[in-house]
Amino acid sequence: MDSLSNLPLALREFIDPAELSALYEDLGLDAKAARTLHDPGTERTTQTLVGLVAPGQMFTKAAADYVVQAVDQGMTEAGAFFLFLEGRRQEQELANWRNSLWPLLHANVVYTVTNNEILRRTLGGSTKLETAKRKSHKVRSGSVLMFRRRVHAMGPDATVEKFDQNASSWNGNPGGAGYPHFRWMRRFVGCFTKLSKNGRILDFGCGAGWCGIEAAKTFGCTELAFFDPSPEMVKIAERNAREQGITNPVGRTGFGEAPPFPAAGEEPYDSVISSGVISFSPDPNVWIDGLLPTVKSGGNLVIGDIQRTSRGMQRRRREKPLLPARELNAQTAAEVRALLEPHGFECTGGAGYQLTRPFPEAMHVNETKLKGLLTRPLLWSNQIAAATNRRLNLPGDDQFDSWVMSFRRK
Ligand SMILES: C[S@@+](CC[C@H](N)C(=O)[O-])C[C@H]1O[C@@H](n2cnc3c(N)ncnc32)[C@H](O)[C@@H]1O
Repeated sequence: MDSLSNLPLALREFIDPAELSALYEDLGLDAKAARTLHDPGTERTTQTLVGLVAPGQMFTKAAADYVVQAVDQGMTEAGAFFLFLEGRRQEQELANWRNSLWPLLHANVVYTVTNNEILRRTLGGSTKLETAKRKSHKVRSGSVLMFRRRVHAMGPDATVEKFDQNASSWNGNPGGAGYPHFRWMRRFVGCFTKLSKNGRILDFGCGAGWCGIEAAKTFGCTELAFFDPSPEMVKIAERNAREQGITNPVGRTGFGEAPPFPAAGEEPYDSVISSGVISFSPDPNVWIDGLLPTVKSGGNLVIGDIQRTSRGMQRRRREKPLLPARELNAQTAAEVRALLEPHGFECTGGAGYQLTRPFPEAMHVNETKLKGLLTRPLLWSNQIAAATNRRLNLPGDDQFDSWVMSFRRK
């Protein structure tokens, strides 16, 4: 164990992992196998490490750096790390810890522990733990962040499970107040495609398939292929394509890092579209290596994703302790362009779209409280802003939560 005086001030006290038994129970983890952060053990643990930030001690960069190093050395890819911040903690402080432990770790759960209850928060919502009611002895109160390694949180199994489970909600809700905007965004991206008659399109990480479908309809393409890691998504994309009059769509399952198109004997594509996908890849260089063989020489690539540097996204990272990993992992348009240009991709256009805060918040209120009263005005604002950004670069890129670019491959 490190001598106490070598530790950053914030981390000089310890917590017995047994104190967190209700949390272990909640997550199906073994409390007995847990170790404290400062105990290096003889080999890296596949189980849990626990660190305590003592009451009154605030976030410091030195403490965060220590945690990163100790967890990296002490825990395998399968392990989990609990950071117990004793006492009352602000959301921004938790967000600060989360930001500083990224990219090694990603926070999946926040527990708020008081003497008589434990509240579990995930991106899916909040729940009071039943187990807390059985506790009679006094426990420390505070906030506990539960982290996994980023490569675990963004691993292939987690991706397939998440998108299989949520496939139907990613297909949008026809008739819902947000649906016109959902479909417009896919059309906006799809229409950056450049395709001559009889051209072939590949939708790379298709989700429900709408970007590829919109492009195929616009250009009367003869062959639409698409793939996604989630078999459920591929099924939905196939159904959507047929319903939109595309007679023989070809769907496969697979990851962008090793795409299932083109298979041996198949040609690369005239146009490849990848919308909202690269932010899910733990290593964008490997993902780009997977993309390269799919685009033919002289062909067109349309790529888009969320805008990590928008005003709204920056604020979310400052204020919210829990965010989807992709929001932290996302590349800016400039970063993706820099990855593509050395491979002979020449940028031919681009735009920001999806106005940032307060528009997403207004859309949410429109959908949940106003029964769609503002659907059209909000959609028009987004359409006008995206069109003027595309032509005049106004408003600026930081006013949008998403970007799209098109490239020609030399
Ligand atoms: C935000 S959705 C976007 C779907 C669709 N392209 C669209 O714009 O509506 C992201 C999709 O990327 C897929 N995905 C995640 N990781 C991927 C990877 N490494 N390679 C290819 N697709 C991936 C997911 O399964 C999901 O369907």
